Amino acid sequence: MNETDKNKWNNIYASGEEKISRPCHVLSSNSHLLPVTGNALDLACGRGANAIYLAGKGYETFAWDLSDVATQDLANRARKMGLSIKTEQRDLTILSPPPRSFDIIVISRYLDRMIIPDIIAALRENGLLFYQTFIREKVSDFGPRNPAYRLQANELLTLFQSLRIIYYREEGTVGDAAKGFRDEAMLVAQKRTE
Ligand SMILES: C[S@@+](CC[C@H](N)C(=O)[O-])C[C@H]1O[C@@H](n2cnc3c(N)ncnc32)[C@H](O)[C@@H]1O
Repeated sequence: MNETDKNKWNNIYASGEEKISRPCHVLSSNSHLLPVTGNALDLACGRGANAIYLAGKGYETFAWDLSDVATQDLANRARKMGLSIKTEQRDLTILSPPPRSFDIIVISRYLDRMIIPDIIAALRENGLLFYQTFIREKVSDFGPRNPAYRLQANELLTLFQSLRIIYYREEGTVGDAAKGFRDEAMLVAQKRTE
């Protein structure tokens, strides 16, 4: 257990510094790609806006995070909303998702390159991955300062090249930086064996 990171994130969530956000853009703007039924995982869920969105759409929804303050808060809010979300405090560096276990995996604003092979393996056949996180080529100070937690140019495409890429957007600093989708990259990819 990474107690230092767990304490750090627990303190952030207990302080209210990390607000309850909306579901990530890559999920809400590509919701037409979602399957009719299935199960879904919000990985490193934080306050769990993605999990709430997916549970609201009727998927059997799981939400995992290192911070038990975040998962407990999500469980309480889901209960009040009448939503069923299976929350779990879980260190993904120790226990990543089992192989072929999810139809939908959503990851927003979390990057651990070591667990990428496990994320790919965790998708079921035809399973979809929605991924959105920070990039190095940014136009604002939003997001982590440590470049290790930011993607290099086109890195999501490289990390998930074994999947079928359905959608990708990364604008960097190109053109009018006051417009468009900046500071993050987003990808939707599908696991296909044929
Ligand atoms: C920037 S927050 C993003 C939260 C949420 N996905 C969102 O978009 O609002 C990063 C999250 O990753 C979680 N996290 C960091 N290391 C983790 C680990 N080893 N295992 C599971 N979760 C982890 C943190 O607790 C935190 O909730």
